[in-house]
Amino acid sequence: APADLSALITSGLRDVPDFPKEGVVFKDITPLLADPASLRAVVEGIAGRYAQDSVDVVLGLEARGFILAAPVALELGAGFVPVRKAGKLPRETHRASYDLEYGSETVEMHADAVSPGSRVLIVDDVLATGGTARAAVELVDKAGGTVVGFSVLVELGFLQGRRKLTDVEPHALAVL
Ligand code: PRP
Repeated sequence: APADLSALITSGLRDVPDFPKEGVVFKDITPLLADPASLRAVVEGIAGRYAQDSVDVVLGLEARGFILAAPVALELGAGFVPVRKAGKLPRETHRASYDLEYGSETVEMHADAVSPGSRVLIVDDVLATGGTARAAVELVDKAGGTVVGFSVLVELGFLQGRRKLTDVEPHALAVL
């Protein structure tokens, strides 16, 4: 990612110590989203990287991933598919579980949301321990789709989450 975009993101993030629990430094992206130029820059920064990849659907990871994935999908002329926390989707789903930086979680995707052979871009706000990312890749695999990319605003490099991703090279607009 261009250095200026990385700097824009870094300066737009707010560190919130001990949220949602003690010892965790939460990365608050809301200042970045609230700034019109930053919002446009990050959406175009993600979409631009995958413009030549014939993306069919963009997967957004609840909840903050939704905010970015939908405009990225529009930019790419792709569809949007939500990956949700367990129990939120009404129809038949694929499920995947993982350990989170703080707690554990199961995520779901409608079983027919990604057709076999579909080209899928996964978008989220933060790559931390990589559990969410890996679960999302698992869901695409279960549906028979092809993951063409995994993109985030921010990667917390010190947590080494990318080690959990073997079949996809994650891309981050900024690495902390
Ligand atoms: C956060 C973040 C990523 C995930 C990254 O979501 O938005 O989805 O954690 O962590 P990991 O790499 O350790 O899995 P959270 O579960 O807090 O959900 P929210 O967006 O609904 O608040």
